[in-house]
Amino acid sequence: MSSQAGNPADNQLANKSQAWSALFSEPMSELVKRYTASVDFDKRLWAADIEGSLAHADMLAAQGIIGADDLAAIQRGMAQIREEIASGRFEWKLDLEDVHLNIEARLTELAGLAGKRLHTGRSRNDQVATDVRLWLRGEIDTLVGLLSELQRVLVGQAERHADVILPGFTHLQVAQPVAFGHHMLAYVEMFARDVERLLDARKRVNRLPLGAAALAGTSYPLDRERVARTLGMEGVAQNSLDAVSDRDFAIEFSAAAALIMVHISRLSEELILWMSQAFGFIALPDRFCTGSSIMPQKKNPDVPELARGKSGRVVGHLMGLITLMKGQPLAYNKDNQEDKEPLFDTVDTLSDTLRIFAEMMDGLTVKAEAMERAALKGYATATDLADYLVKKGLAFRDAHEIVAHAVKTAQAQGVDLSALSLEALRAFDARIGEDVYEVLSLAGSLNARNILGGTAPAQVRAQVARHRARLGAGVGADAKA
Ligand code: ARG
Repeated sequence: MSSQAGNPADNQLANKSQAWSALFSEPMSELVKRYTASVDFDKRLWAADIEGSLAHADMLAAQGIIGADDLAAIQRGMAQIREEIASGRFEWKLDLEDVHLNIEARLTELAGLAGKRLHTGRSRNDQVATDVRLWLRGEIDTLVGLLSELQRVLVGQAERHADVILPGFTHLQVAQPVAFGHHMLAYVEMFARDVERLLDARKRVNRLPLGAAALAGTSYPLDRERVARTLGMEGVAQNSLDAVSDRDFAIEFSAAAALIMVHISRLSEELILWMSQAFGFIALPDRFCTGSSIMPQKKNPDVPELARGKSGRVVGHLMGLITLMKGQPLAYNKDNQEDKEPLFDTVDTLSDTLRIFAEMMDGLTVKAEAMERAALKGYATATDLADYLVKKGLAFRDAHEIVAHAVKTAQAQGVDLSALSLEALRAFDARIGEDVYEVLSLAGSLNARNILGGTAPAQVRAQVARHRARLGAGVGADAKA
């Protein structure tokens, strides 16, 4: 049975499907092989896998567990493997199940016994947990950059449209006028919180499982702190069972990602509404829209619609991951292999969406007149009239009732409150004077809300300045200035 066990120069990983042991008496069926293999998708982790292996090897040598010549051979082999993978020449083998065994097998081809020594004091269980963390850390940093860029674009729109008046809605009924810039900055707040959440999750992503080995730790005198330092990790997982089985970090990340997509989805919904003929508030650049194969007049907001749809898919991945962990006994179980595809798809969907939105939102055309016309339709300054009466001495509830009567009268005449004559207005309350017309104007209503967090254009400009200082210039800022 055991020709493999005989010669130490044999590369066990290279030439059998049951790579790990002579114990197995029958090969896997093709179907089971395909079912259990992950290399088709986890090869994406190759750079992290090599980085983790090199840090491990460096430490093994420093601890005298492998020789300096072994380390050198491992480093040379890994440099070549890197090159082969990057250039597309690496031959990935399904027989070798996953990215880890593929790379280790090739290393052993290239580096002989040194390659076989790499896995000392390590298991694929702590190896894969390390790889996913390293990979995700890099992706988080990219996503933070994309979120910052999107915020910068929205801040730019806010600045250009600090005075543009939009009907603010509650219950999708005209409520009070707001500055379009204020509305854009609401999304900036959401994306800023998203960045905070990602960076907070990053702290827990950035901890080292290596050294936990299969589940119990290892008998070799590994220097785990050294490996953590080499990999730029902020700490070492303190319990080996937890280290190999913990996927909280993936779930936390997915939750943050799902929330980002929810924010994108809400923005999408507004863009779609605003672009419909009934609103006519905005236009999206043509390159983000498509036409209809039958209706020649159509221009459809496909990108925001798709983004709204894709939010479902990212939320779905969160559900998948959280369900994956439920009921798993300690420590590692093969279930965990299922963490990768949802994570990869989450990252891909999110980064494409954020890139597209930064470009699309920058090209948004704002139709200020249509927004203002709509704001004039819904008695959006009724609250301002009530506040005016309160300032003249009425109790708010009485003022509220008086204004309701005024709105009813204006509605019957089909006009805005500001179109009622002073005489007509004074019939509701004699305290009303000429100065009421400033109060009833949309601009007056905005300017009145000159309070921290309010919609007054002066506040919008102050917020724009705050965000600018916070976000910095960013990539491509020169080109746009
Ligand atoms: N491909 C595996 C995964 O993604 C690697 C770890 C395998 N460990 C094991 N004991 N089978 O989880």
